Amino acid sequence: MEKMKRVNAILKAPLYRRCCARLEELEKERIFCCHQMPHLLDAARIAYILNMEQNLGFEKEVIYAAAVLHDIGKYVQYEDGTPHEQSGEKIASEILDSLPDDAAFSEEEKRMILTAIRGHRKLRADAEPLERLLYTSDKASRMCFACPAESECDWSVDKKNMELEI
Ligand SMILES: [Fe+2]
Repeated sequence: MEKMKRVNAILKAPLYRRCCARLEELEKERIFCCHQMPHLLDAARIAYILNMEQNLGFEKEVIYAAAVLHDIGKYVQYEDGTPHEQSGEKIASEILDSLPDDAAFSEEEKRMILTAIRGHRKLRADAEPLERLLYTSDKASRMCFACPAESECDWSVDKKNMELEI
């Protein structure tokens, strides 16, 4: 199988493209963290590094799929206030189900990916391993120490990354 065939199928999916385009429009003037490709790939790569460092054993494409899809519902949150982990889970499910057979994720992989998306904003005590990995990588990807809007950002002090850790 070509490298990253399944992740590339997600990135090319018409619904994925439409959601990204809408989000790009809505975040055009945003001074705080954005939720577009640079952030999604930062989260993916941090997650993959942690996966290797900690021998978590996740398949690379499962990690990348969860990461590139995890903020897919953000435009809905801007539009109507629905928490983006909820809309994101639904949209991601639709995208994953739309992939061609030769780029499909298994039912168990889809379940893990969707659980991780649903749980990525608030860490549950009994979070699944991929959910925990996505949560950690998502937060670690934010470079608060180098952000010009840090002092205006409403993230709590203990949540902000004021020193590089990962
Ligand atoms: Fe994120």
